[in-house]
Amino acid sequence: MTKIGLFDSGVGGLSVWRAVARTLPQHDLVYFADQKYCPYGLRSQQEIRALSTRITKFLVEQNCRVIVVACNTASAAALYFLRETFPHVSFIGMEPAVKPAASATRSGKIAVLATRGTLEGELFHHTRNEFARHVQALTVYPTDWVERVERADIDSVETFESVRGVIEPLLDAGVDEIALGCTHYPFLAPVIENIAAGRASILDPSDAVAKQTARVVAESALPPTRNATQTYYTSGNVAEFGRVLQKLLGPQAAEIAFSPI
Ligand code: DGL
Repeated sequence: MTKIGLFDSGVGGLSVWRAVARTLPQHDLVYFADQKYCPYGLRSQQEIRALSTRITKFLVEQNCRVIVVACNTASAAALYFLRETFPHVSFIGMEPAVKPAASATRSGKIAVLATRGTLEGELFHHTRNEFARHVQALTVYPTDWVERVERADIDSVETFESVRGVIEPLLDAGVDEIALGCTHYPFLAPVIENIAAGRASILDPSDAVAKQTARVVAESALPPTRNATQTYYTSGNVAEFGRVLQKLLGPQAAEIAFSPI
């Protein structure tokens, strides 16, 4: 049975996974967390392309024909390359929701939160020039958020303070739209919402990506199945992945396996 694959440097892509699982409950899903090499945010484009190629080969071996690159950093560095290298696979990529933020802002000031790799990449510069010329786009790379989400540290006082340190200055600067340009950040959305308290909207692209995945699945004529399976692989520690998964998504009847790829 053909499957849908998703991958990320770690657990961040689970924010996309939950939207895809909701939208396509009758499809087998395979998730790969490359925790051995997490974070991707400071790695070179070349390195990210090599890691993404290895993961894609692995997912293709698991019979995935549609693959969601559930990572903005990997999408920025490797999406075009993957499409050229694996022409028989349909890829769905991610990028910060600059366009919706720029069209929704009333104050004329938006914020884009993402990793350094995403913010310094060509794709982001292009999107910003095309859709956000008429607004002021403040970009921020929150240095410790990925690591916090990786250990499911999403509700401690320290995490609250770290999020406040990023969000408050943006609100004070007049930002009213905040685009989450890294798939780890939606797990901090409740904290961000608490701090922003009606002063800014938060844009999480997961649902839009899930809709796009559903379109691609329909075009690729991937047949639904009655007993859809969900399998997770990590290149890191299986027990730790299981703990974090339960904390981020709630109890899962999941099969988790190690893969060194
Ligand atoms: N979750 C990833 C993203 O969407 C990358 C985090 C990282 O590994 O630095 O950009």
